[in-house]
Amino acid sequence: MNQELGWSKKSWVQKQALQQPEWPDQVAYQKVIDEIDVRPPLVFAGEIRRLKSELALAQEGKAFLLQGGDCAEEFSRCTAPDIRETLKVILQMALILTYAGEKPVIKVGRIAGQYAKPRSKPTEEIGGVELPSYRGDIINSPEPVLAARIPDANRLLTAYYTSASTLNLLRAYTKGGFASLERVHAWNADFVKSSREGEIYEQLAKEIDKAMSLIRNIGLGQHKELNEVNFYTSHEALLLGYESALTRQDSLTGDWFDCSAHMLWIGDRTRQVDGAHVEFLRGVNNPIGIKIGPGHDLSEIKKLISRINPKNEPGRMTLITRFGANKILDQLPTLIKGVEEEGFKVLWSCDPMHGNTYTSGRFKTRNVEDIFAEIGGFFACHQALGTIPGGIHFELTGEAVTECIGGTEGIAAEHLEQNYATSCDPRLNGKQSLDLAFMIADLLKR
Ligand code: PEP
Ligand code: CO
Repeated sequence: MNQELGWSKKSWVQKQALQQPEWPDQVAYQKVIDEIDVRPPLVFAGEIRRLKSELALAQEGKAFLLQGGDCAEEFSRCTAPDIRETLKVILQMALILTYAGEKPVIKVGRIAGQYAKPRSKPTEEIGGVELPSYRGDIINSPEPVLAARIPDANRLLTAYYTSASTLNLLRAYTKGGFASLERVHAWNADFVKSSREGEIYEQLAKEIDKAMSLIRNIGLGQHKELNEVNFYTSHEALLLGYESALTRQDSLTGDWFDCSAHMLWIGDRTRQVDGAHVEFLRGVNNPIGIKIGPGHDLSEIKKLISRINPKNEPGRMTLITRFGANKILDQLPTLIKGVEEEGFKVLWSCDPMHGNTYTSGRFKTRNVEDIFAEIGGFFACHQALGTIPGGIHFELTGEAVTECIGGTEGIAAEHLEQNYATSCDPRLNGKQSLDLAFMIADLLKR
């Protein structure tokens, strides 16, 4: 119990928690939670503190946040190639943005724990049959049969071990030489290489090679910064039983940390000021993101920031706006002014995905043009108000999926069925992700 705050890792239980599954077998559920409670943390307080200090720099415009990954990770996609391709595309984008923005890019994956999805409806219709909604692999299975849709508590345990295994490979890749600046060419995935994006990227990689050979020649090639990358994990903190079971007290400082990921965010549907999600997250010391969509109420957002960050600590709060290309110019300026006039220290990040989803035939999709328009609007609003556009939040994969429309390879509605692999929201593929990185690079240069 944190006496000063009246908070404990279970104080959220007294509040209303939206979007929680009804576990049919409570005994099995409790057994699983008790097991997770004693398992090792996935991330450590020191790493979380370092991310927070980097995000504090981004708030001042001295770094830029790149956050991205699947909408919903799937257990079956926890394979070395899947993890490597997602990591590669994020590293490539980060390199493009670092080069253009001339500042460090903080790399945060929606990975190693992004398994729970808030849903707008408890049921969905598939092939004329009404079924309980798929709520993410940590809860049920996307398979369209009733039995597969019943929440299964053992999935919480699988989520924990799958996160651990994903994180293990990420740590190996980012600290074991794979992420070395010597290998920028190797990050260029085969299917991207032959494309226009891949060619522009190769040019950039060549320039970095030149700089690297200079660095080697003057004897500085062994520097850790050139050979290792700090890569952080994040997910929506949706399932409070799971999150609180992974919440631990740091023996050095006595502070509490949710050790399921470095950064956690609260979704647009669960950020009620008096709700259980806000109660839980106000007490853990991780950097916290808040998703803010078109239906928000400014006075509520202000209360939320005061509740989660009462000491106005730098690096603690990231506001992730997701208005949609057609609403951002209308809504973002008022939000920025309202938040800034309170003197709140926040990092402004743009999620150009969730406000731009629409349905084309039987597919949920997004158009790269809308995504880019929202990003352009985000930069324009901040520029006009003298505030800092400090980050970007994408749903993406390194694979050559056809889930979003547009981009230089010209994916159109009729191509969606070719490789539509997501079980949740549509993701940018590797080429579209690089396209967008080059577009953002142009905005950062201005
Ligand atoms: C998400 O990030 O996948 C999500 C559900 O976002 P939001 O809460 O902004 O709708
Ligand atoms: Co999503």
